[in-house]
Amino acid sequence: MYYQFPENFTWGVATAAAQIEGGANEDGRGLSIWDVFSRIPGSIKHGGVPEVACDSYHRYERDVEMLKELGVNSYRFSFSWSRIMPDGTGKVNEAGIAYYKNLIALLRENGIKPNATMYHWDLPYQLQLKGGFGNREIVKWFTEYARVLLDNFGEDVDFWVTFNEPIATYVGYSQGFFAPGLHDEKYARQALHNLLICHGEVVKLFRTYGFMNSKIGIVVDVWKHYPANPGKEEDEKLVIENNEIKGFGMFLNPLFLGGYSEVLMEYFEKNGLTPDIQDGDFETINQPLDFYGLNFYNGLYDDAVKLKEQEEAKKQGGGNYQDRPESHPEAVCDVLHMLVDKYKINIPIYITENGFPYDNADGKEANMNDDLRIDYVKQVLKWAHKAIEEGIDLRGYYLWSLMDNFEWSAGYCARYGVYYTDYETLECSPKKSAKWYSAVTRDNGFEE
Ligand code: FCB
Repeated sequence: MYYQFPENFTWGVATAAAQIEGGANEDGRGLSIWDVFSRIPGSIKHGGVPEVACDSYHRYERDVEMLKELGVNSYRFSFSWSRIMPDGTGKVNEAGIAYYKNLIALLRENGIKPNATMYHWDLPYQLQLKGGFGNREIVKWFTEYARVLLDNFGEDVDFWVTFNEPIATYVGYSQGFFAPGLHDEKYARQALHNLLICHGEVVKLFRTYGFMNSKIGIVVDVWKHYPANPGKEEDEKLVIENNEIKGFGMFLNPLFLGGYSEVLMEYFEKNGLTPDIQDGDFETINQPLDFYGLNFYNGLYDDAVKLKEQEEAKKQGGGNYQDRPESHPEAVCDVLHMLVDKYKINIPIYITENGFPYDNADGKEANMNDDLRIDYVKQVLKWAHKAIEEGIDLRGYYLWSLMDNFEWSAGYCARYGVYYTDYETLECSPKKSAKWYSAVTRDNGFEE
C-alpha cells in the first residue's frame, strides 16, 4: 500500500538549543540551568555536559546542508534564552541575536520554514536563583524575553512555539532528574501554573504585532496511558493518575478547556498542593492558538500488579524496571482523535516530535543501519495517515532529531538522530534513516 500525504504537508526535523548548540561559554552567553545541573556528579548518564554538544553554534551551515539533503521544508529549533539575554532579563546579547539571524536567513534562502520554540527547558540560571518558574515574576521576565525575540525575528519565523513540553519543568522541580534537580511538588505545581500564564501573556503579546504570515502555538507531549486490564479498578486508577494528574491533562485542560479538571483540583486540595490562582488566570491561559504541536513517542499500558513487582525489584536493586516499554505506535491515531474530541482542539495539528533512540553502546554500525527507527517511524506515519483519512487536520510531521545530540539526563548515551554525530570530530554522517526520510519528503509519502 502507498501512503500518500496531503499536498503542502510539512516535513521537518527537530532539535533544541541546549541539545545541539554548544558554544556554552562563548560570545557573552549566560549559564542555563542545564549547564549547572549537568555539572552535579551523577545527574547525567556517564557525566555528559552540553558545553560542546554538536557544536551547532559554529556549524549551523553544516546543519542547513543536512536539512537540504533531507529535503525537509521546515526546521524546528529553539532559542537559547541565556544566549539572547545572559541574565534572563535586561541586557540583550547582540552576538546571540546575530547567530539566530544568520541561521534563520540561511533557512529562508533555502526554502526551509523556521519553526522556533522560545523555551525548550533551558532557563537562564540567574532566573532560577530568583525562584525560576516558581516565582510569578517569571511572567514579566518571559514576556520581556519574548518581546526581544518577536522584535528581532518576528515574521521571519513561520511557526512560533511558546513552550516545548511544559512537563519538563514539573519534572525538574518535583522529581529531580531534570534541571534544576529539585524535589518539591508544591513548588512544581505553582511553577506549571505560572508557566501557563507566561504562555497566555505571550500569545496576547504576539497578537499585538499583527503579523500576516507567522503563526503561534504550543507543544505539549502526550504519553497516553491505557489500562492493561480494562475495567480493573487498580489499573483504571493508575491511568487517571498518569493522564490527568501527572500527565497531559494538567496542561490540555487549562489551555483548551479553560481550567483544571475536577480530578486534578481534588488532588490539589487533598494534598495541599493548590497553586495560587488569581482572578483572570484561566482566561489568560486559554488563548486562541493558530496550531497545536503534538510530541508523540508512545502509548503506555498500566498494570498495577506489574508496577508493584517492578517497584519491589527496583528497591532490591534488580529487576527489569528499566526495560523499554512495549511499542504502541498505533496510539498516535487515538491521541489525535482525543485532542479533537475531548480537548476541542479544532485548529491545525502538527506532530512536532517523534523519534526512536538507539543506545550509544549498540555501536556505530548498528546505529548507522537503523532499521528499527525506520520501521517505527513508518508505523507512526501509517497511523497518522489513518487519522488524516478520518478527518483529523494534521498538517505536518517533524522527526526527532536531525542528529544525535545531548539527550538531557541520558547525556550522549541515547542517539536519536538521523545523522550520526561523532563527538570526537564533530562530524555528522547520514544513517540509513536519513536516506529513507529524504525519499519520504521527496515523494510526500512512502510504500509499505
Ligand atoms: C522530548 C524532548 C526532546 C528530546 C526528545 C527525545 O521529550 O522534547 O528535547 O529529548 O524527547
